[in-house]
Amino acid sequence: MRTFPPYRIQVVKEIPITTREQREEALARAAYNTFDLPSNMVTIDLLTDSGTGAVSAAQEAAAAQADRAYAGSDAYYRFRAAVDDLTSYPHTFPVHQGRAAERVLFTSVLKPGQISVSNTHFDTTRANVELLGAEARDLPCAEFADLDSREPFKGNIDLAALEQTLAGPDGERVGQVLVTITNNGGGGQPVSMANLKAVRELCDRYGVPFFLDAARFAENAWLVVRREPGYGHLTPKEVAQEAFALADGCVASLKKDGIAPMGALIGVRDPEIAKRCEVNLIATEGFRTYGGMAAHDLERVAQGLEEVIDPHYLASREADAAHFADLVTQAGVDIVQPSGMHALYLNAGRLLSHIPPSGFPGHALACELYLAGGVRCVELGSLYLGGFDENHNLVTPAPFELVRVAIPRRTYTQAHLEYVADVLADIAKDPSRVASYRVVDAPPLLRHFNLKLERIPAGA
Ligand code: F0G
Repeated sequence: MRTFPPYRIQVVKEIPITTREQREEALARAAYNTFDLPSNMVTIDLLTDSGTGAVSAAQEAAAAQADRAYAGSDAYYRFRAAVDDLTSYPHTFPVHQGRAAERVLFTSVLKPGQISVSNTHFDTTRANVELLGAEARDLPCAEFADLDSREPFKGNIDLAALEQTLAGPDGERVGQVLVTITNNGGGGQPVSMANLKAVRELCDRYGVPFFLDAARFAENAWLVVRREPGYGHLTPKEVAQEAFALADGCVASLKKDGIAPMGALIGVRDPEIAKRCEVNLIATEGFRTYGGMAAHDLERVAQGLEEVIDPHYLASREADAAHFADLVTQAGVDIVQPSGMHALYLNAGRLLSHIPPSGFPGHALACELYLAGGVRCVELGSLYLGGFDENHNLVTPAPFELVRVAIPRRTYTQAHLEYVADVLADIAKDPSRVASYRVVDAPPLLRHFNLKLERIPAGA
């Protein structure tokens, strides 16, 4: 039996339909940086699944009656109840978004010179570690290096490498272990409960705090139910509860699995860390019962956390992503296998093998998707992760040239995703037509968002 979404559509928003000529002009004006495109020039926006999910009637009803008291509002208690239902952390704080949660928690945990070890730090997460003078070290499992393998938990941290780090000369300097579920920087792949349990054990043995970056906790829980032996009989909520219980705390952007436009969460067990977080939060984000969130967003998050963990919703979201993945691979475009839930990661390096890393095949494919079909997405390759010299030439390529095609929650129908697959299929018929790019300007920090590029015509 097919799955289907457990909702119907009651409010819609028109999307812009443009010509290729208009898109050529818009992309040139944006200096070939998809972050600089105005969204009224984008037909299907797959740049991110963050803050882009459709809200439910129940969320809007809750938002409409939100109590905006500065301290101790009803909205806060609803938020607390929803969070307490999932996590067992005695100290939880709302924060306006994930990166603020990172800053507040890491400032309370890490010291300059320490190391944060992760399966993969998301880019703002890495930046927040580095801004504190600490080092962000990624230890993804070896299985991830084979993009085509269908290993079920390629988001796992490399346990042997983690143990070596903790036991070795750098061990003293490890200030935290942070596991990102699902691993957004690593192909959107899930992390197994066995891996989380083993991290818990190592952290106990070496006395290091273990935190989750739980932005996509519900999708990770669902993929555990579906893929991990011994978990098939549990609900995704039970799995999520178990995952949170294994860690000493979490940061979680709730713009993803909170299905809300804005919001995040910090959760911790240690009362001393909680005190430091609270002072920092009040000084920089807001009072502990709103933390920089508007009351209506606290309400939307509280309701969203209940909706996101619904097995019918998660099954239909997984099926949508799998259907999209099938169409894209049938069209001749390889993806990081197996498909996860929040995005497809296209193997642009393989599709555009005529473009060397220095011509940014991932970016070339992202630009072509926009030019050919008005589809916006983002490169995750050498432009994002590579090493550059002062003249903006690539000196160290990234290990893979990928493009992330994110799938906002409840926002696009299968027909939209089928259209995107058609656009990709057209590109894949003659990839040699796709032009490469060169960087003309790039800032030193968070380069990705502020790049300026130039197109090098195909064959030049
Ligand atoms: N951690 C992960 C794993 C994320 O994916 C993100 C955001 C953050 C932290 C930061 O959260 O945006 O609320 O400040 N990811 C978005 C994305 C932006 O497109 O993947 P935030």
